[in-house]
Amino acid sequence: MLQLEEKILRDGRALNEDVLLVDSFLNNQVDAPLMAEAGKAFAEAAKGLGITRVITIESSGIAPALMTAMALGVPMVILKKSTSRILNDDILQTEVFSFTKNAAYQLTLKKRFVLPGDRVLLIDDFLARGEAAQGASKLIEQAGGSVAAIGIVIEKAFQPGRALLTGKGYKVISLARVSKMGEGFIEFVEADA
Ligand code: G4P
Repeated sequence: MLQLEEKILRDGRALNEDVLLVDSFLNNQVDAPLMAEAGKAFAEAAKGLGITRVITIESSGIAPALMTAMALGVPMVILKKSTSRILNDDILQTEVFSFTKNAAYQLTLKKRFVLPGDRVLLIDDFLARGEAAQGASKLIEQAGGSVAAIGIVIEKAFQPGRALLTGKGYKVISLARVSKMGEGFIEFVEADA
């Protein structure tokens, strides 16, 4: 998505070789028209996959996921991050470790918002090591759905997330793929949409 790459070059900042700051349009402030375009791009790339539901992880995945759900005309469901395990018949949880934040959390799905047979487009803001996407996919599958594709706004292509997910047979659709970054430069490889 050329418009997204241009935005990253204009308003993003590589804090170091690993972390890309995009707080002005994705993480803290949200560029709604850009998210609408991201939603259309995901919807177009997922055409023909029979998506029945868009699922995301709070909080920064919500904006692009909502726009994608709107473009596809399907419901959007949010996986929450909980600090503790909850014992409840309607809740599915799995532990996810974030290497970026060096902390673990309980990824939490309310089961009744995934129906058996649902074909899910999972959306998240960043793909780093793929831990969050892998945990989310596990919960969706436990609830009886299948993950038809995983849509990522910004993939850090120099980290192993894509290899982990494609190795497990998931289709990854990234709108921007950062191959290398550092002080004053951000480089891309070809994106999926
Ligand atoms: P992984 O799931 O692919 O293994 O990624 P990881 O745990 O390392 O990432 C955890 C959090 O850090 C996620 O946010 C992710 O969006 C964010 N993140 C990872 N790399 C970057 C980066 O280079 N720049 C920015 N801005 N964020 C990054 P989160 O904890 O889910 O936060 P939020 O969704 O509540 O904002």
